Amino acid sequence: TYVVTDNCIKCKYTDCVEVCPVDCFYEGENFLVIHPDECIDCGVCEPECPAEAIKPDTEPGLDKWLKINTEYASIWPNITVKKEPLPEAKEMDGQTGKFEKYFS
Ligand code: SF4
Ligand code: F3S
Repeated sequence: TYVVTDNCIKCKYTDCVEVCPVDCFYEGENFLVIHPDECIDCGVCEPECPAEAIKPDTEPGLDKWLKINTEYASIWPNITVKKEPLPEAKEMDGQTGKFEKYFS
């Protein structure tokens, strides 16, 4: 599966949702997640994210993000249509430690 990671937080560009063939993105206030059981590993979302927040879970160190994607995909509503990024997206893009400060 692919997973959404830290740099999506407080940016939420949503370009990713438009290209997913199985519509497996789910939306929180500041962040999106991928449902790992629904993702078919096609990889088309990865280059679409302006924040480079989407990664294959085969990359090392992504266990935490796989857990977060799994947990919240079953709680948050599905999103399939692109919307405006969060107003602070440009400013927040690339900041570190966003999970600790802003995750929701
Ligand atoms: Fe959707 Fe493909 Fe991205 Fe998985 S890898 S979330 S199936 S676009
Ligand atoms: Fe987030 Fe990137 Fe999608 S910032 S909403 S994973 S396009």
